[in-house]
Amino acid sequence: MKVAVMGYGVVGSGVVEVLQTNNKEIVKRSGQESVDIKYILDLRDFPGDPNEDKFIKDFSLIENDKEISVVVETMGGLKPAFDFVMACLKSGKSVVTSNKELVAAKGYELLEAAKENNVNFLFEASVGGGIPVIRPMSQCLAANKIEAVAGILNGTTNFILTKMVDDNMDFAEALKLAQENGYAERNPAADVEGMDACRKICILASLAYEHHVYPDGIYTEGITNVTLEDVAYAENWGGVIKLIGATEPVEDGDKIAVYVRPCFVSSHSQLANVNDVFNAVLVRGDALGDSVFYGKGAGKLPTASAVVADVIDCARHLEKRKLFGWGPAKENFVADTMELPISAYIRFTSSDAQGAKDALTEKFGGVQELKRENQPENEKAFVVCAGSEKSLREELESLSNKGDFKLLSLMKIADF
Ligand code: HSE
Repeated sequence: MKVAVMGYGVVGSGVVEVLQTNNKEIVKRSGQESVDIKYILDLRDFPGDPNEDKFIKDFSLIENDKEISVVVETMGGLKPAFDFVMACLKSGKSVVTSNKELVAAKGYELLEAAKENNVNFLFEASVGGGIPVIRPMSQCLAANKIEAVAGILNGTTNFILTKMVDDNMDFAEALKLAQENGYAERNPAADVEGMDACRKICILASLAYEHHVYPDGIYTEGITNVTLEDVAYAENWGGVIKLIGATEPVEDGDKIAVYVRPCFVSSHSQLANVNDVFNAVLVRGDALGDSVFYGKGAGKLPTASAVVADVIDCARHLEKRKLFGWGPAKENFVADTMELPISAYIRFTSSDAQGAKDALTEKFGGVQELKRENQPENEKAFVVCAGSEKSLREELESLSNKGDFKLLSLMKIADF
């Protein structure tokens, strides 16, 4: 079987390395006589690379080569990845990708194209890097109704948060280290502002609830506003701050909640001790209960591990397409986050902190006060439960309009 790899960056070069280093085992497990890389498509030159003879710059060579059965897309981004992947599927080639942006934005279209052409479109590496989660959700948990999916889905931000908490490292230094290790996106704003995690939770939500969930309009908040003061209050509350992407059915199952935001996570949660570049995805099934998938969510060889497993799966299903995927998007399927109930940590400064506490208590019932070392007198932190996030934000807005009340932080308390 002949394979083409499009994009020879961190992940693509890892795929080539794993496919060649473990070739004997891969061939045996694929059911094919051989699994060889015929082309590597990249616009850059790689003089001296052991695969120098395989590099091409012209995509049509792959598209028109009948010998190529499986194409690996590790270019990233939508352009030209979408056109290339679509063309491969239409020319009867299975495609494997690690490109979460592509799957989150175009997954349904590409899955339909794969179906029409009786080939496979697989993307295990698009969520959780090397952690098996797409296949377990679509196969091993297929008997369950999914009651929730919640995860630490971005290695870069988890690495940064861990360095900030454990090593007192500043944000910029930790980000630089993540980039040097090949974890961060080309534009790390996608990591630190939550977009990358948003794409991943959209893929998991699409898989769990069977309608394509697009990232546009999903409540997405990154970690750029998380401070060491928030970390201290989280510790006093009994947990840690993690960037969580989550989805669950709401409103009697007619809609789903989907969000990415920094959350207080209890130290008893299975997600609390997921540190460094590790990712974890907790899937709550009605029959199984909670299961947690944990491992390296980014990096060259961990991601290549998942891509190559998909190549092997394609090799095993060259004649008969796997039943896999989801349906089209459904209008109004994703609930407005602001309309949903919330337990939240809030931190503010006010010279009338007692007045603010009384107003919050009157409106929302009991509040839990949190403390930290070196807490300034005018700073207060509470945990508040509100019938909707909108009502909480409106109350905080009305307090802001009175006196010198200033909201500094608002984070969801996760219940996973
Ligand atoms: N930038 C991503 C991360 C890479 O840090 O998790 C893996 O998707």
